[in-house]
Amino acid sequence: MDNRPIGVFDSGVGGLTVLKEMKRILPAENFIYVGDTARVPYGVKSRSTITKFASQIMDFLMEKDVKLIVVACNTVSSNSLSYLKSRYRVPVIGVIEPGVQLALDRTKNRCVGIIGTQSTIRSHKYKELIIRQDRKIRIFEKACPLFVPLVEELLFDHSITRLAIKGYLQEFRARKIDTLVLGCTHYPLLTRALNRFFQGKVNLISSGYSVSLVVQDILSKKRLFSGRRKKGSIHLYASDLNENFRKLSRVVLSDSSVKMQLISFD
Ligand code: DGL
Repeated sequence: MDNRPIGVFDSGVGGLTVLKEMKRILPAENFIYVGDTARVPYGVKSRSTITKFASQIMDFLMEKDVKLIVVACNTVSSNSLSYLKSRYRVPVIGVIEPGVQLALDRTKNRCVGIIGTQSTIRSHKYKELIIRQDRKIRIFEKACPLFVPLVEELLFDHSITRLAIKGYLQEFRARKIDTLVLGCTHYPLLTRALNRFFQGKVNLISSGYSVSLVVQDILSKKRLFSGRRKKGSIHLYASDLNENFRKLSRVVLSDSSVKMQLISFD
């Protein structure tokens, strides 16, 4: 039994989609979330900067005495995960592998699209892991750099967003993919607009649920579950406590007991 909190982080609000699923699957756990809203987006930055920012957040979470850390950011997971796993002495869980498994389970025509930030797509991490399991799968990758700022601006189903979706994903429709990996934790917030674009005919894969199952499994194997009988707490930290972050955390988590605080990495 271990009552320490679970740490979760992302460059901004995207990781809240993962936190939401974890809270649903593990309601008795306490969570500390960090959104680096002052420095988002990470997806256009170099690997060394991404690793530096992620390490600063991990150091902060370690000071808070977390028992496990979820890297709720594909950009960090695809660029820096092995470094972070080797440097910190708590279990560190990324979001890529759980998403890969789900995509492999869902595709029927073995024609899969992968979208993410420039940096995630450049790493080819998803492609590499999928092909390792099934060489015959056809994979189409596309960086969609405008999606993160659109989500951070809460424009989930706005006409500008629909235009961006069409611009980026028209070719996927032509290639008849049946599964699309949302390789960025911001993208599940575009689910409605994406479903409309694909007329509900494409499986949208987000890793929040599968990541939560991986975390549950580790907590069980390592006997790290909290002994709490009541609901756990959520404490959010943001490097810029702006109105969009406040609004979005309310929309995504729909929990009025969430505490929010500013954090500085200077
Ligand atoms: N939510 C992030 C991801 O999953 C990062 C987006 C960004 O900061 O560019 O990749």
